Amino acid sequence: MSEETYTFRIQRNTPTGNGRFDTRWQEFKVTLPTTSTVLSALEEIKARQDGTLTFRQSCRSAICGSCAMRISGRTRLACKTQVGSVARDKVIEVGPQTNQPVLKDLAIDIRPFFERVRRVDPFLKDGPESAKKVTKTAYDQVNQVTQCIMCGCCYSDCTMAEVSPAFLGPAALAKSFRFVSDPREGMKTERLEFLSQPDNMWSCSRCTMCVEVCPKDVKPMEAIVKLRTRGLEKGLRSGVGARHALAFHEDIQQNGDLNEFTLMMRSVGLGGTLAELGSALHLMKKGKIPSPFPHKAEKLGELRKIYDILEKNPLDVETKAAEIVPE
Ligand code: SF4
Ligand code: FES
Repeated sequence: MSEETYTFRIQRNTPTGNGRFDTRWQEFKVTLPTTSTVLSALEEIKARQDGTLTFRQSCRSAICGSCAMRISGRTRLACKTQVGSVARDKVIEVGPQTNQPVLKDLAIDIRPFFERVRRVDPFLKDGPESAKKVTKTAYDQVNQVTQCIMCGCCYSDCTMAEVSPAFLGPAALAKSFRFVSDPREGMKTERLEFLSQPDNMWSCSRCTMCVEVCPKDVKPMEAIVKLRTRGLEKGLRSGVGARHALAFHEDIQQNGDLNEFTLMMRSVGLGGTLAELGSALHLMKKGKIPSPFPHKAEKLGELRKIYDILEKNPLDVETKAAEIVPE
């Protein structure tokens, strides 16, 4: 087994009181097999070089989710990440999760993350929409999202959480999908109404970071897209996000191209458009105001064929399946 000497650049965060930190980068050299995990390296550093280095770990088997941290530019599980796969010129940079408050060094305060999960009522509710039969198709939908280990990797690397701290976040939304897609759940519409409110399912910008970093292949963004589809199917179409999506759908289906001139008005209404008047005037000055006349894409017939195929073969088979209609 080949060994290498790696330089670990670790972010040290020392609380100095009143929520402030002394933040600095400290380097440690560690020699270990290329297949060793980052967690083993951190343990080695803590045992032999600096006992004050603080980080979380428990299962060492990618099950408990406690060792999630930023490693070489992405949030990963330290116990699942081999040093050889993330070293750049034999240097590995390690820091705490982002979008979460730091407690010390690599340990973060996970409470705000779980507070978001609690907001989606993560338990089955009895109610009028409860079905008695659980089909294999419906189970498969639920099964994928139940793989979540609540590690927080998706929230840490979520670009929307970075700019909008009120955003519910990918893990909580995936958890909510777990219940909305469960035939036994009795309050699906109530859940979708909550999710249609600002900062919930329509705030995702679909950057795909959550899908990329999730160590359990939960694919939170796919769950969010399915939640949106279900919300629209339930007639929850009055929010900005829903109106924006429907305006896109309408333009592309009719013309194969967006009418950006009217898109804002159709998404945020007159009040929202007037609020952005300053930006519009700025764009106008720069000659960047789009034409008010809809432009039809070439080969529109080809596009319509795609729509026909999708309408006959919906991607979200479970949503449309008659077999999950409550009995
Ligand atoms: Fe971790 Fe994936 Fe669950 Fe997010 S969805 S908390 S990345 S397991
Ligand atoms: Fe449990 Fe890494 S220590 S997931």
